[in-house]
Amino acid sequence: MHEQRRVTDSYWLRTAPGPSYPALTGDTEVDVAVVGAGMAGLSTAYELARAGLRVAVLEAGRVASGVTGHTTAKLTAQHTLVYDRLRRTRGPDGARLYARSQSEAIEHAGALVAELGIDCEWEERDAYTYVRDESRVEEVRAEAEAAREAGLPATFTTGTGLPFPVAGAVRVTGQAQFHPVRYLRALVDDMIARGGQVYEGTRVVGLDEGGETCRLSTESGHTVTARDVVVATHYPVFDRALLFSRLSPRRELVVAGPLGDGPDPEGMYITPEENTRSVRTAPYGEDGRRLLVVTGEHFTPGTGDPRAGFDRLAAWAREHFPGVRLEHAWATQDNESTDTVPLVGPFHPGARHTYVATGFGGWGLSGGIMAGLLLTSLITGGDSPWRELYDPRRLKSVVREAPSLLKTQAKVARHFVGDRLKAPASVDDLAPGDGAVVRVGGDRLAVHRDDAGTLHAVSARCTHLGCLVAFNRAECAWECPCHGSRFAVDGEVLQGPAVRPLEQREPE
Ligand SMILES: Cc1cc2nc3c(=O)[nH]c(=O)nc-3n(C[C@H](O)[C@H](O)[C@H](O)COP(=O)(O)OP(=O)(O)OC[C@H]3O[C@@H](n4cnc5c(N)ncnc54)[C@H](O)[C@@H]3O)c2cc1C
Ligand code: FES
Repeated sequence: MHEQRRVTDSYWLRTAPGPSYPALTGDTEVDVAVVGAGMAGLSTAYELARAGLRVAVLEAGRVASGVTGHTTAKLTAQHTLVYDRLRRTRGPDGARLYARSQSEAIEHAGALVAELGIDCEWEERDAYTYVRDESRVEEVRAEAEAAREAGLPATFTTGTGLPFPVAGAVRVTGQAQFHPVRYLRALVDDMIARGGQVYEGTRVVGLDEGGETCRLSTESGHTVTARDVVVATHYPVFDRALLFSRLSPRRELVVAGPLGDGPDPEGMYITPEENTRSVRTAPYGEDGRRLLVVTGEHFTPGTGDPRAGFDRLAAWAREHFPGVRLEHAWATQDNESTDTVPLVGPFHPGARHTYVATGFGGWGLSGGIMAGLLLTSLITGGDSPWRELYDPRRLKSVVREAPSLLKTQAKVARHFVGDRLKAPASVDDLAPGDGAVVRVGGDRLAVHRDDAGTLHAVSARCTHLGCLVAFNRAECAWECPCHGSRFAVDGEVLQGPAVRPLEQREPE
Protein backbone atom coordinates (compact mmCIF):
# COMPACT_ATOMS: atom_id res chain seq x y z
CA MET A 1 0.00 0.00 0.00
CA HIS A 2 3.04 2.28 0.08
CA GLU A 3 2.03 4.34 -3.02
CA GLN A 4 -1.37 5.19 -1.52
CA ARG A 5 -1.97 8.49 0.21
CA ARG A 6 -5.00 7.99 2.48
CA VAL A 7 -7.85 5.53 2.63
CA THR A 8 -10.49 8.24 2.31
CA ASP A 9 -9.30 9.56 -1.02
CA SER A 10 -12.00 9.07 -3.66
CA TYR A 11 -10.60 9.63 -7.14
CA TRP A 12 -14.04 10.74 -8.36
CA LEU A 13 -14.40 13.48 -5.75
CA ARG A 14 -10.79 14.59 -6.17
CA THR A 15 -11.19 15.01 -9.95
CA ALA A 16 -14.55 16.81 -10.03
CA PRO A 17 -14.16 20.03 -8.13
CA GLY A 18 -17.24 22.20 -8.30
CA PRO A 19 -18.98 25.10 -6.65
CA SER A 20 -20.34 24.86 -3.11
CA TYR A 21 -24.02 25.52 -2.59
CA PRO A 22 -25.34 27.49 0.36
CA ALA A 23 -26.91 26.02 3.46
CA LEU A 24 -30.61 26.68 4.01
CA THR A 25 -30.79 29.89 6.01
CA GLY A 26 -34.54 30.56 6.07
CA ASP A 27 -37.85 28.75 5.67
CA THR A 28 -38.94 27.87 2.14
CA GLU A 29 -41.80 26.28 0.25
CA VAL A 30 -41.58 24.15 -2.90
CA ASP A 31 -43.61 21.53 -4.76
CA VAL A 32 -41.19 18.70 -3.94
CA ALA A 33 -38.36 18.51 -1.40
CA VAL A 34 -35.70 15.85 -1.98
CA VAL A 35 -33.55 14.81 0.97
CA GLY A 36 -30.10 13.59 -0.16
CA ALA A 37 -27.94 14.67 -3.12
CA GLY A 38 -26.64 11.30 -4.30
CA MET A 39 -27.49 9.53 -7.54
CA ALA A 40 -31.03 8.69 -6.39
CA GLY A 41 -31.91 12.12 -4.96
CA LEU A 42 -30.36 14.22 -7.72
CA SER A 43 -31.74 12.04 -10.52
CA THR A 44 -35.21 12.43 -9.01
CA ALA A 45 -34.87 16.16 -8.41
CA TYR A 46 -33.56 16.68 -11.93
CA GLU A 47 -36.45 14.82 -13.59
CA LEU A 48 -38.97 16.70 -11.47
CA ALA A 49 -37.41 20.06 -12.39
CA ARG A 50 -37.57 19.07 -16.06
CA ALA A 51 -41.24 18.26 -15.55
CA GLY A 52 -41.72 21.88 -14.43
CA LEU A 53 -42.00 21.38 -10.65
CA ARG A 54 -40.39 23.66 -8.06
CA VAL A 55 -37.78 21.45 -6.37
CA ALA A 56 -35.40 21.86 -3.42
CA VAL A 57 -32.61 19.37 -2.63
CA LEU A 58 -31.39 19.26 0.99
CA GLU A 59 -27.99 17.65 1.48
CA ALA A 60 -26.25 17.13 4.83
CA GLY A 61 -22.77 17.14 3.25
CA ARG A 62 -21.87 18.09 -0.29
CA VAL A 63 -23.35 17.15 -3.66
CA ALA A 64 -22.46 13.53 -4.58
CA SER A 65 -20.14 13.18 -1.59
CA GLY A 66 -22.00 10.15 -0.17
CA VAL A 67 -21.82 6.62 -1.56
CA THR A 68 -22.23 7.98 -5.11
CA GLY A 69 -18.88 9.79 -4.90
CA HIS A 70 -17.09 6.59 -3.86
CA THR A 71 -18.29 3.86 -6.24
CA THR A 72 -16.79 1.94 -9.15
CA ALA A 73 -19.15 3.86 -11.47
CA LYS A 74 -20.24 1.19 -13.91
CA LEU A 75 -23.62 1.67 -15.53
CA THR A 76 -24.90 -1.77 -16.32
CA ALA A 77 -28.08 -3.80 -16.14
CA GLN A 78 -25.92 -6.83 -15.38
CA HIS A 79 -25.91 -7.00 -11.60
CA THR A 80 -23.56 -9.90 -10.82
CA LEU A 81 -25.87 -12.97 -10.73
CA VAL A 82 -29.29 -11.34 -10.31
CA TYR A 83 -31.39 -12.71 -13.18
CA ASP A 84 -31.35 -16.40 -12.36
CA ARG A 85 -32.51 -15.48 -8.84
CA LEU A 86 -35.12 -12.99 -10.09
CA ARG A 87 -36.77 -15.43 -12.49
CA ARG A 88 -37.24 -17.79 -9.55
CA THR A 89 -38.37 -15.20 -6.98
CA ARG A 90 -40.27 -12.67 -9.13
CA GLY A 91 -41.00 -14.82 -12.18
CA PRO A 92 -39.86 -14.28 -15.79
CA ASP A 93 -41.92 -11.07 -16.03
CA GLY A 94 -40.26 -9.63 -12.91
CA ALA A 95 -36.82 -10.43 -14.34
CA ARG A 96 -37.79 -8.81 -17.67
CA LEU A 97 -39.08 -5.66 -15.92
CA TYR A 98 -35.92 -5.42 -13.87
CA ALA A 99 -33.71 -5.69 -16.98
CA ARG A 100 -35.88 -3.22 -18.92
CA SER A 101 -35.99 -0.66 -16.10
CA GLN A 102 -32.22 -0.72 -15.55
CA SER A 103 -31.47 -0.63 -19.28
CA GLU A 104 -33.86 2.28 -19.88
CA ALA A 105 -32.21 4.16 -17.01
CA ILE A 106 -28.78 3.76 -18.64
CA GLU A 107 -30.15 4.78 -22.07
CA HIS A 108 -31.79 7.80 -20.44
CA ALA A 109 -28.51 8.86 -18.81
CA GLY A 110 -26.70 8.44 -22.15
CA ALA A 111 -29.32 10.65 -23.83
CA LEU A 112 -28.87 13.34 -21.15
CA VAL A 113 -25.08 13.22 -21.57
CA ALA A 114 -25.53 13.80 -25.31
CA GLU A 115 -28.25 16.45 -24.94
CA LEU A 116 -26.43 18.51 -22.29
CA GLY A 117 -22.95 17.79 -23.70
CA ILE A 118 -21.77 16.49 -20.31
CA ASP A 119 -18.03 15.87 -20.07
CA CYS A 120 -18.17 12.80 -17.81
CA GLU A 121 -15.90 10.30 -19.57
CA TRP A 122 -18.88 8.30 -20.83
CA GLU A 123 -17.63 5.10 -22.47
CA GLU A 124 -19.58 2.17 -23.85
CA ARG A 125 -18.28 -1.12 -22.44
CA ASP A 126 -19.24 -4.78 -22.19
CA ALA A 127 -19.95 -6.02 -18.67
CA TYR A 128 -18.74 -9.41 -17.44
CA THR A 129 -19.58 -11.50 -14.38
CA TYR A 130 -16.90 -14.19 -14.22
CA VAL A 131 -15.86 -17.15 -12.08
CA ARG A 132 -12.52 -18.90 -11.95
CA ASP A 133 -13.72 -21.89 -9.96
CA GLU A 134 -14.88 -24.66 -12.36
CA SER A 135 -17.51 -25.78 -9.86
CA ARG A 136 -19.38 -22.47 -10.35
CA VAL A 137 -19.54 -22.53 -14.14
CA GLU A 138 -23.11 -23.88 -14.19
CA GLU A 139 -24.21 -20.91 -12.06
CA VAL A 140 -22.79 -18.56 -14.66
CA ARG A 141 -24.34 -20.50 -17.55
CA ALA A 142 -27.73 -20.29 -15.82
CA GLU A 143 -27.26 -16.55 -15.32
CA ALA A 144 -26.40 -16.03 -18.99
CA GLU A 145 -29.56 -17.88 -19.98
CA ALA A 146 -31.71 -15.98 -17.45
CA ALA A 147 -30.29 -12.59 -18.48
CA ARG A 148 -30.95 -13.41 -22.15
CA GLU A 149 -34.51 -14.49 -21.31
CA ALA A 150 -34.92 -11.18 -19.46
CA GLY A 151 -34.09 -9.37 -22.70
CA LEU A 152 -30.42 -8.48 -22.26
CA PRO A 153 -27.76 -9.09 -24.94
CA ALA A 154 -26.13 -11.76 -22.74
CA THR A 155 -23.90 -14.69 -23.70
CA PHE A 156 -21.75 -17.28 -21.92
CA THR A 157 -18.03 -16.90 -22.73
CA THR A 158 -14.55 -17.76 -21.52
CA GLY A 159 -12.83 -14.86 -23.31
CA THR A 160 -12.98 -11.68 -21.26
CA GLY A 161 -9.91 -9.52 -21.95
CA LEU A 162 -8.78 -9.99 -18.34
CA PRO A 163 -5.08 -10.82 -17.92
CA PHE A 164 -5.90 -14.22 -16.36
CA PRO A 165 -8.02 -17.19 -17.47
CA VAL A 166 -11.57 -17.59 -16.18
CA ALA A 167 -13.68 -20.75 -15.99
CA GLY A 168 -16.73 -18.94 -17.39
CA ALA A 169 -18.38 -15.56 -17.66
CA VAL A 170 -21.63 -13.87 -18.64
CA ARG A 171 -21.00 -11.06 -21.10
CA VAL A 172 -23.61 -8.34 -21.57
CA THR A 173 -22.72 -6.03 -24.44
CA GLY A 174 -23.44 -2.32 -24.86
CA GLN A 175 -23.23 -1.20 -21.20
CA ALA A 176 -21.43 1.97 -20.02
CA GLN A 177 -19.11 3.56 -17.49
CA PHE A 178 -18.64 7.20 -16.54
CA HIS A 179 -17.42 9.73 -13.99
CA PRO A 180 -20.39 9.90 -11.61
CA VAL A 181 -19.57 13.19 -9.89
CA ARG A 182 -19.01 15.11 -13.14
CA TYR A 183 -22.28 13.71 -14.46
CA LEU A 184 -24.23 14.80 -11.38
CA ARG A 185 -22.60 18.23 -11.18
CA ALA A 186 -23.80 18.88 -14.75
CA LEU A 187 -27.35 17.83 -13.82
CA VAL A 188 -27.24 20.18 -10.83
CA ASP A 189 -26.18 23.10 -13.07
CA ASP A 190 -29.03 22.44 -15.46
CA MET A 191 -31.53 21.95 -12.63
CA ILE A 192 -30.56 25.28 -11.05
CA ALA A 193 -30.95 26.95 -14.46
CA ARG A 194 -34.50 25.56 -14.46
CA GLY A 195 -35.24 27.13 -11.06
CA GLY A 196 -34.26 24.22 -8.80
CA GLN A 197 -32.65 24.89 -5.41
CA VAL A 198 -29.75 22.96 -3.85
CA TYR A 199 -28.71 23.36 -0.21
CA GLU A 200 -25.51 21.76 1.09
CA GLY A 201 -24.54 21.46 4.76
CA THR A 202 -28.24 21.11 5.54
CA ARG A 203 -29.09 18.02 7.57
CA VAL A 204 -32.79 17.19 7.78
CA VAL A 205 -33.76 15.97 11.26
CA GLY A 206 -37.55 15.81 11.16
CA LEU A 207 -40.44 15.01 8.81
CA ASP A 208 -44.05 15.94 9.55
CA GLU A 209 -46.30 14.37 6.94
CA GLY A 210 -49.81 15.14 8.22
CA GLY A 211 -52.40 16.52 5.79
CA GLU A 212 -51.87 17.71 2.24
CA THR A 213 -48.42 19.20 2.81
CA CYS A 214 -45.26 17.84 4.41
CA ARG A 215 -42.83 19.78 6.54
CA LEU A 216 -39.13 19.02 6.88
CA SER A 217 -37.10 20.50 9.69
CA THR A 218 -33.34 20.91 9.55
CA GLU A 219 -30.63 20.79 12.18
CA SER A 220 -30.30 24.58 11.97
CA GLY A 221 -34.01 25.00 12.81
CA HIS A 222 -35.28 26.05 9.37
CA THR A 223 -38.16 24.32 7.63
CA VAL A 224 -39.14 23.35 4.11
CA THR A 225 -42.81 22.94 3.26
CA ALA A 226 -43.59 20.76 0.25
CA ARG A 227 -46.51 18.85 -1.17
CA ASP A 228 -44.25 15.83 -1.74
CA VAL A 229 -41.06 14.65 -0.07
CA VAL A 230 -38.54 12.14 -1.42
CA VAL A 231 -36.21 10.53 1.13
CA ALA A 232 -33.07 9.58 -0.80
CA THR A 233 -30.63 9.49 2.11
CA HIS A 234 -29.22 6.06 1.22
CA TYR A 235 -30.25 4.29 4.45
CA PRO A 236 -33.69 5.87 4.97
CA VAL A 237 -34.26 8.34 7.79
CA PHE A 238 -37.76 8.98 9.35
CA ASP A 239 -38.43 5.34 8.63
CA ARG A 240 -42.02 4.69 9.80
CA ALA A 241 -42.32 1.44 7.86
CA LEU A 242 -39.20 0.07 9.62
CA LEU A 243 -37.54 -0.51 6.26
CA PHE A 244 -34.23 -0.58 8.11
CA SER A 245 -35.17 -4.06 9.31
CA ARG A 246 -35.23 -5.22 5.66
CA LEU A 247 -31.82 -3.76 4.78
CA SER A 248 -28.26 -4.90 5.48
CA PRO A 249 -25.26 -2.60 5.11
CA ARG A 250 -22.18 -3.95 3.35
CA ARG A 251 -18.96 -1.94 3.31
CA GLU A 252 -16.42 -2.42 0.56
CA LEU A 253 -12.88 -1.23 -0.24
CA VAL A 254 -11.58 0.42 -3.41
CA VAL A 255 -8.01 0.97 -4.69
CA ALA A 256 -7.12 2.88 -7.85
CA GLY A 257 -4.14 4.13 -9.81
CA PRO A 258 -2.66 4.39 -13.30
CA LEU A 259 -2.03 1.11 -15.15
CA GLY A 260 1.53 0.15 -16.05
CA ASP A 261 2.51 -0.88 -19.57
CA GLY A 262 0.08 -3.82 -19.75
CA PRO A 263 -3.00 -3.60 -21.98
CA ASP A 264 -6.30 -2.05 -20.88
CA PRO A 265 -8.67 -5.01 -20.34
CA GLU A 266 -11.44 -2.86 -21.91
CA GLY A 267 -14.40 -4.42 -20.14
CA MET A 268 -16.15 -3.98 -16.79
CA TYR A 269 -15.75 -7.03 -14.59
CA ILE A 270 -17.10 -8.50 -11.38
CA THR A 271 -16.79 -11.84 -9.64
CA PRO A 272 -18.62 -13.04 -6.53
CA GLU A 273 -15.49 -15.07 -5.72
CA GLU A 274 -12.55 -13.94 -3.54
CA ASN A 275 -14.89 -11.83 -1.35
CA THR A 276 -15.81 -9.93 -4.54
CA ARG A 277 -13.50 -8.37 -7.07
CA SER A 278 -14.81 -5.63 -9.36
CA VAL A 279 -12.58 -4.09 -12.03
CA ARG A 280 -12.84 -1.27 -14.55
CA THR A 281 -10.53 1.32 -16.07
CA ALA A 282 -11.05 5.02 -16.78
CA PRO A 283 -9.27 7.75 -18.74
CA TYR A 284 -6.31 9.11 -16.78
CA GLY A 285 -4.39 12.26 -17.67
CA GLU A 286 -3.87 13.77 -21.08
CA ASP A 287 -1.65 11.15 -22.72
CA GLY A 288 -4.08 8.26 -23.18
CA ARG A 289 -3.17 6.46 -19.96
CA ARG A 290 -5.81 4.49 -18.06
CA LEU A 291 -6.71 4.40 -14.39
CA LEU A 292 -7.38 0.96 -12.87
CA VAL A 293 -10.18 0.82 -10.30
CA VAL A 294 -10.50 -2.37 -8.20
CA THR A 295 -13.17 -2.99 -5.57
CA GLY A 296 -13.68 -5.84 -3.11
CA GLU A 297 -13.13 -7.24 0.41
CA HIS A 298 -16.60 -6.48 1.73
CA PHE A 299 -17.55 -6.65 5.42
CA THR A 300 -20.31 -5.48 7.75
CA PRO A 301 -19.44 -1.97 9.03
CA GLY A 302 -18.30 -2.02 12.64
CA THR A 303 -17.08 -5.62 12.55
CA GLY A 304 -13.48 -5.46 11.56
CA ASP A 305 -10.31 -3.61 10.81
CA PRO A 306 -10.12 -3.13 7.03
CA ARG A 307 -6.36 -2.52 6.94
CA ALA A 308 -5.61 -6.14 6.06
CA GLY A 309 -8.41 -6.03 3.43
CA PHE A 310 -6.82 -3.00 1.78
CA ASP A 311 -3.50 -4.87 1.68
CA ARG A 312 -5.11 -7.95 0.11
CA LEU A 313 -6.92 -5.85 -2.50
CA ALA A 314 -3.78 -3.90 -3.38
CA ALA A 315 -1.74 -7.14 -3.62
CA TRP A 316 -4.40 -8.63 -5.94
CA ALA A 317 -4.31 -5.54 -8.18
CA ARG A 318 -0.52 -5.62 -8.40
CA GLU A 319 -0.40 -9.36 -9.07
CA HIS A 320 -2.85 -9.17 -11.98
CA PHE A 321 -1.91 -5.73 -13.32
CA PRO A 322 1.89 -5.54 -12.84
CA GLY A 323 3.19 -1.99 -12.93
CA VAL A 324 -0.02 -0.41 -11.62
CA ARG A 325 0.72 2.53 -9.29
CA LEU A 326 -1.99 2.54 -6.64
CA GLU A 327 -2.44 6.17 -5.62
CA HIS A 328 -5.98 6.25 -4.27
CA ALA A 329 -7.82 4.14 -1.72
CA TRP A 330 -11.23 4.62 -0.23
CA ALA A 331 -14.18 2.68 1.13
CA THR A 332 -17.94 2.96 1.02
CA GLN A 333 -21.04 0.91 1.69
CA ASP A 334 -24.36 0.03 0.15
CA ASN A 335 -27.51 -1.56 1.56
CA GLU A 336 -28.99 -4.77 0.31
CA SER A 337 -32.71 -5.43 0.70
CA THR A 338 -33.77 -8.84 1.98
CA ASP A 339 -35.17 -9.81 -1.46
CA THR A 340 -32.24 -8.06 -3.26
CA VAL A 341 -34.59 -5.75 -5.22
CA PRO A 342 -34.34 -2.01 -4.40
CA LEU A 343 -37.14 -0.33 -2.44
CA VAL A 344 -38.38 2.61 -4.52
CA GLY A 345 -41.85 4.14 -4.20
CA PRO A 346 -44.29 5.25 -1.49
CA PHE A 347 -42.48 5.39 1.86
CA HIS A 348 -44.97 3.36 3.91
CA PRO A 349 -48.46 1.83 3.60
CA GLY A 350 -50.25 5.08 4.60
CA ALA A 351 -47.96 7.38 2.60
CA ARG A 352 -49.70 9.81 0.24
CA HIS A 353 -46.95 12.32 -0.36
CA THR A 354 -43.74 10.72 0.87
CA TYR A 355 -41.46 8.49 -1.17
CA VAL A 356 -38.23 6.56 -0.62
CA ALA A 357 -35.39 5.15 -2.76
CA THR A 358 -33.01 2.72 -1.08
CA GLY A 359 -31.66 -0.86 -0.97
CA PHE A 360 -29.65 -0.70 -4.21
CA GLY A 361 -27.44 -3.64 -3.23
CA GLY A 362 -24.29 -2.31 -4.91
CA TRP A 363 -26.03 -1.20 -8.13
CA GLY A 364 -27.50 2.18 -7.29
CA LEU A 365 -26.08 4.16 -10.19
CA SER A 366 -28.38 2.62 -12.78
CA GLY A 367 -30.78 2.02 -9.85
CA GLY A 368 -30.69 5.69 -8.78
CA ILE A 369 -31.40 6.89 -12.32
CA MET A 370 -34.23 4.35 -12.55
CA ALA A 371 -35.54 5.65 -9.19
CA GLY A 372 -35.54 9.21 -10.57
CA LEU A 373 -37.69 8.16 -13.53
CA LEU A 374 -40.03 6.00 -11.44
CA LEU A 375 -40.59 8.51 -8.63
CA THR A 376 -41.11 11.37 -11.08
CA SER A 377 -43.86 9.46 -12.82
CA LEU A 378 -45.53 8.63 -9.46
CA ILE A 379 -45.28 12.23 -8.19
CA THR A 380 -46.55 13.79 -11.42
CA GLY A 381 -49.59 11.51 -11.39
CA GLY A 382 -48.45 9.03 -14.02
CA ASP A 383 -47.84 5.33 -13.68
CA SER A 384 -44.83 3.18 -14.42
CA PRO A 385 -44.55 -0.44 -15.55
CA TRP A 386 -41.92 -0.89 -12.82
CA ARG A 387 -44.02 0.46 -9.94
CA GLU A 388 -44.99 -2.90 -8.48
CA LEU A 389 -41.57 -4.53 -8.87
CA TYR A 390 -39.87 -1.90 -6.71
CA ASP A 391 -42.80 -0.95 -4.42
CA PRO A 392 -41.40 -0.86 -0.83
CA ARG A 393 -44.83 -2.04 0.39
CA ARG A 394 -44.63 -5.29 -1.61
CA LEU A 395 -46.22 -7.98 0.51
CA LYS A 396 -45.81 -11.26 -1.31
CA SER A 397 -42.11 -10.87 -1.43
CA VAL A 398 -42.00 -9.86 2.26
CA VAL A 399 -43.39 -13.31 3.05
CA ARG A 400 -40.74 -14.88 0.83
CA GLU A 401 -38.16 -12.64 2.49
CA ALA A 402 -38.96 -14.03 5.95
CA PRO A 403 -35.86 -16.26 6.36
CA SER A 404 -33.54 -13.52 5.16
CA LEU A 405 -35.35 -10.95 7.32
CA LEU A 406 -35.00 -13.16 10.39
CA LYS A 407 -31.32 -13.64 9.65
CA THR A 408 -30.84 -9.85 9.38
CA GLN A 409 -32.67 -9.27 12.66
CA ALA A 410 -30.82 -12.06 14.45
CA LYS A 411 -27.57 -10.40 13.44
CA VAL A 412 -28.77 -7.05 14.80
CA ALA A 413 -29.89 -8.68 18.07
CA ARG A 414 -26.53 -10.42 18.36
CA HIS A 415 -24.78 -7.07 18.12
CA PHE A 416 -27.26 -5.29 20.40
CA VAL A 417 -26.81 -7.81 23.20
CA GLY A 418 -23.48 -9.51 22.46
CA ASP A 419 -21.45 -6.35 21.99
CA ARG A 420 -22.50 -5.23 25.48
CA LEU A 421 -21.14 -8.43 27.02
CA LYS A 422 -17.71 -8.11 25.46
CA ALA A 423 -14.95 -7.25 27.89
CA PRO A 424 -14.38 -3.52 27.44
CA ALA A 425 -10.91 -2.32 26.56
CA SER A 426 -8.89 -0.03 28.77
CA VAL A 427 -7.99 3.50 27.69
CA ASP A 428 -4.41 2.84 28.80
CA ASP A 429 -4.08 0.17 26.08
CA LEU A 430 -5.00 2.57 23.28
CA ALA A 431 -2.20 3.25 20.81
CA PRO A 432 -2.13 6.59 18.96
CA GLY A 433 -4.60 6.42 16.05
CA ASP A 434 -6.67 3.70 17.70
CA GLY A 435 -10.08 3.71 19.36
CA ALA A 436 -12.07 1.39 21.63
CA VAL A 437 -15.27 1.15 23.62
CA VAL A 438 -14.62 1.30 27.37
CA ARG A 439 -16.91 1.17 30.39
CA VAL A 440 -16.99 4.16 32.71
CA GLY A 441 -19.43 3.61 35.57
CA GLY A 442 -22.63 2.39 33.90
CA ASP A 443 -21.80 4.17 30.63
CA ARG A 444 -19.98 2.90 27.54
CA LEU A 445 -17.65 5.44 26.01
CA ALA A 446 -16.18 5.39 22.52
CA VAL A 447 -12.66 6.69 23.10
CA HIS A 448 -10.15 7.60 20.41
CA ARG A 449 -6.50 8.53 20.96
CA ASP A 450 -5.30 10.81 18.15
CA ASP A 451 -1.81 10.75 16.68
CA ALA A 452 -0.70 13.47 19.11
CA GLY A 453 -1.88 11.32 22.04
CA THR A 454 -4.98 13.38 22.95
CA LEU A 455 -8.07 11.40 23.97
CA HIS A 456 -11.51 12.13 22.47
CA ALA A 457 -14.61 10.54 24.01
CA VAL A 458 -18.23 10.24 22.89
CA SER A 459 -21.06 7.97 23.94
CA ALA A 460 -20.73 4.52 22.35
CA ARG A 461 -24.53 4.20 21.96
CA CYS A 462 -25.53 4.70 18.34
CA THR A 463 -28.15 7.45 18.16
CA HIS A 464 -30.26 5.41 15.73
CA LEU A 465 -31.45 2.53 17.94
CA GLY A 466 -28.76 2.19 20.58
CA CYS A 467 -26.38 -0.55 19.38
CA LEU A 468 -22.74 -0.07 20.40
CA VAL A 469 -20.38 1.41 17.82
CA ALA A 470 -16.94 -0.02 17.03
CA PHE A 471 -13.78 1.67 15.75
CA ASN A 472 -12.61 1.40 12.13
CA ARG A 473 -8.95 2.18 12.48
CA ALA A 474 -8.15 2.41 8.74
CA GLU A 475 -10.79 5.11 8.22
CA CYS A 476 -10.65 6.61 11.72
CA ALA A 477 -14.41 6.44 12.28
CA TRP A 478 -16.95 4.87 14.62
CA GLU A 479 -19.29 2.40 12.89
CA CYS A 480 -22.50 0.76 14.02
CA PRO A 481 -22.79 -2.91 13.05
CA CYS A 482 -26.61 -2.93 13.31
CA HIS A 483 -27.63 -0.70 10.38
CA GLY A 484 -24.34 0.87 9.34
CA SER A 485 -24.48 4.40 10.80
CA ARG A 486 -21.03 5.97 10.85
CA PHE A 487 -19.64 8.76 13.01
CA ALA A 488 -16.47 10.89 13.09
CA VAL A 489 -14.28 10.70 16.21
CA ASP A 490 -15.99 13.88 17.50
CA GLY A 491 -19.37 12.12 17.16
CA GLU A 492 -20.55 13.93 14.01
CA VAL A 493 -22.79 11.81 11.75
CA LEU A 494 -20.94 10.62 8.64
CA GLN A 495 -23.62 8.27 7.40
CA GLY A 496 -27.17 7.41 8.48
CA PRO A 497 -29.66 6.10 9.35
CA ALA A 498 -28.64 8.06 12.48
CA VAL A 499 -29.42 11.77 12.20
CA ARG A 500 -28.01 12.90 15.57
CA PRO A 501 -24.33 12.91 16.61
CA LEU A 502 -22.91 10.65 19.33
CA GLU A 503 -23.12 12.54 22.61
CA GLN A 504 -19.96 14.23 23.83
CA ARG A 505 -18.33 12.75 26.95
CA GLU A 506 -15.28 13.64 29.02
CA PRO A 507 -12.40 11.20 28.48
CA GLU A 508 -11.35 9.58 31.76
C1 LIG B 1 -17.69 -0.18 -3.37
C2 LIG B 1 -18.96 0.10 -4.11
C3 LIG B 1 -18.93 0.15 -5.51
C4 LIG B 1 -20.11 0.42 -6.21
N1 LIG B 1 -20.06 0.44 -7.57
C5 LIG B 1 -21.20 0.61 -8.27
C6 LIG B 1 -21.20 0.55 -9.68
O1 LIG B 1 -20.17 0.35 -10.32
N2 LIG B 1 -22.38 0.71 -10.33
C7 LIG B 1 -23.55 0.91 -9.66
O2 LIG B 1 -24.61 1.01 -10.29
N3 LIG B 1 -23.57 1.02 -8.31
C8 LIG B 1 -22.44 0.86 -7.61
N4 LIG B 1 -22.46 0.92 -6.25
C9 LIG B 1 -23.71 1.27 -5.57
C10 LIG B 1 -24.02 2.75 -5.72
O3 LIG B 1 -22.83 3.51 -5.61
C11 LIG B 1 -25.02 3.20 -4.66
O4 LIG B 1 -26.11 2.31 -4.66
C12 LIG B 1 -25.53 4.60 -4.95
O5 LIG B 1 -24.45 5.49 -5.09
C13 LIG B 1 -26.46 5.06 -3.83
O6 LIG B 1 -26.89 6.35 -4.16
P1 LIG B 1 -27.83 7.10 -3.13
O7 LIG B 1 -28.23 8.38 -3.78
O8 LIG B 1 -28.90 6.19 -2.66
O9 LIG B 1 -26.90 7.36 -1.85
P2 LIG B 1 -25.79 8.48 -1.56
O10 LIG B 1 -24.94 8.73 -2.73
O11 LIG B 1 -25.11 8.08 -0.30
O12 LIG B 1 -26.64 9.78 -1.31
C14 LIG B 1 -27.39 9.99 -0.12
C15 LIG B 1 -27.12 11.39 0.35
O13 LIG B 1 -28.01 11.70 1.41
C16 LIG B 1 -27.33 12.54 2.32
N5 LIG B 1 -28.02 12.47 3.61
C17 LIG B 1 -28.07 11.42 4.47
N6 LIG B 1 -28.82 11.72 5.56
C18 LIG B 1 -29.26 12.99 5.37
C19 LIG B 1 -30.09 13.87 6.13
N7 LIG B 1 -30.62 13.49 7.31
N8 LIG B 1 -30.32 15.13 5.65
C20 LIG B 1 -29.80 15.53 4.45
N9 LIG B 1 -29.00 14.73 3.70
C21 LIG B 1 -28.76 13.47 4.14
C22 LIG B 1 -25.92 11.99 2.36
O14 LIG B 1 -25.00 12.96 2.82
C23 LIG B 1 -25.70 11.58 0.90
O15 LIG B 1 -25.03 12.58 0.15
C24 LIG B 1 -21.32 0.64 -5.52
C25 LIG B 1 -21.36 0.57 -4.14
C26 LIG B 1 -20.20 0.29 -3.43
C27 LIG B 1 -20.28 0.18 -1.94
S1 FES C 1 -27.48 2.15 12.86
FE1 FES C 1 -29.22 1.34 13.78
S2 FES C 1 -28.64 1.11 15.85
FE2 FES C 1 -26.91 1.98 14.90
